[in-house]
Amino acid sequence: MRTQVAIIGGGPSGLLLSQLLHQRGIDSVVLERKTKDHVLSRIRAGVLEVGFVNLMREAGVAERMDRECFIHDGTVISRDNASFGINFKDLTGSHVVVYGQTEVTRDLYEAREAAGGRIVYEVEGVGIHGADGDAPCVTYMKDGAEQRIDCDFVAGCDGFHGVSRQAIPLGVRREYEKVYPFGWLGILSETPPVNDELIYASSERGFALCSMRNEKLSRYYIQCSLSDSPEEWSDAAFWEELKRRIPEEAAERLVTGPSIEKSIAPLRSFVTEPMRWGRLFLCGDAAHIVPPTGAKGLNTAASDIHYLYHGLVQHYHDRDDEGIERYSERALARIWKAERFSWWMTTLLHRFPDQSAFDRRIQAAEVAFLRDNRAAQTVLAENYVGLPY
Ligand code: APR
Ligand code: PHB
Repeated sequence: MRTQVAIIGGGPSGLLLSQLLHQRGIDSVVLERKTKDHVLSRIRAGVLEVGFVNLMREAGVAERMDRECFIHDGTVISRDNASFGINFKDLTGSHVVVYGQTEVTRDLYEAREAAGGRIVYEVEGVGIHGADGDAPCVTYMKDGAEQRIDCDFVAGCDGFHGVSRQAIPLGVRREYEKVYPFGWLGILSETPPVNDELIYASSERGFALCSMRNEKLSRYYIQCSLSDSPEEWSDAAFWEELKRRIPEEAAERLVTGPSIEKSIAPLRSFVTEPMRWGRLFLCGDAAHIVPPTGAKGLNTAASDIHYLYHGLVQHYHDRDDEGIERYSERALARIWKAERFSWWMTTLLHRFPDQSAFDRRIQAAEVAFLRDNRAAQTVLAENYVGLPY
């Protein structure tokens, strides 16, 4: 088999890149380890920057999102029982869009299939060869037989646990990581959201987040110990703890119900450099991870795809390699700003096991300054709605 761009990973990064390239007449093949149903069964976040939305529009995949999404002009921050709003619209003129990543991925799959896109599911043993030369290829096993794809470029969109990052030699790769001493216990419930906008709650008992997918589907998180397991948390215990961490007026109107999904995610900051090695380009979680506090996971994948897509178009249409030559530099410049914001939001709002009384006072002062200072709120808002590509 031959293609122009071999894409490893059929998550949002790989699918969005494949669809954007297709729109510009550039051929790709997507190799996905799991089945489509498995990929679509994953529960992920749901806050999209306008930059991501614009990419979906450019990919011709925004119709259902435009119909079903929620526009959020702000968010709520609370500490113990006091809360205040951050008005994105007033502070930046922009907003965020609430639309589940699962739906984004579903829309992208439908678009690729409608366009006759080549997606190979349930591949095994993917290997990347010759990425540092002029004629890379990708091999994989499918139904017990080895297959080979000759290509011009390889896009590693295979997430944190994929093989692409490992294809960059250890002597070339530099990795930066911070692991947080807690996790997020998240549930999905078929209940109306407790608030029109998200509530990021910081309390003596720990962090909590009130989010949503639509007017009948809510997503809640509480900070938990890394030694916890979802099975240890009954629904009743979860709701009780959530109510103790969010403002009383929200706790009083909270509609509880059975969880239809319950899971614990660890929190980490991670970046690998460079994000390019020869004709191999890393995108999304394959190259970087953020703690979910800043809602940047999918949105950092989006800017990688933006830079790589335009670089490949420049290569094929203009015979100009400036974009692909500068991919890693440009992608990392924005990634590190998103890493900083995600780290800052996490540090601001969570209860750290080793915090001293002084540390807690500093944290409270930081939240109070954010509450009272327009410039501080503008910094949060500019980062939350998304820094420019
Ligand atoms: N071969 C083929 N496919 C693979 C391999 C492999 N060796 N390893 C992983 N994959 C697939 C996974 O099954 C997954 O579907 O690559 C895909 C990677 O998708 P994501 O992990 O969702 O990463 P990405 O597309 O970059 O999207 C980032 O997803 O995890 C969230 O918070 C993250 O919102 C962010 C977004
Ligand atoms: C979610 O809705 O899952 C969500 C929203 C905002 C975040 C993290 C997760 O910061």
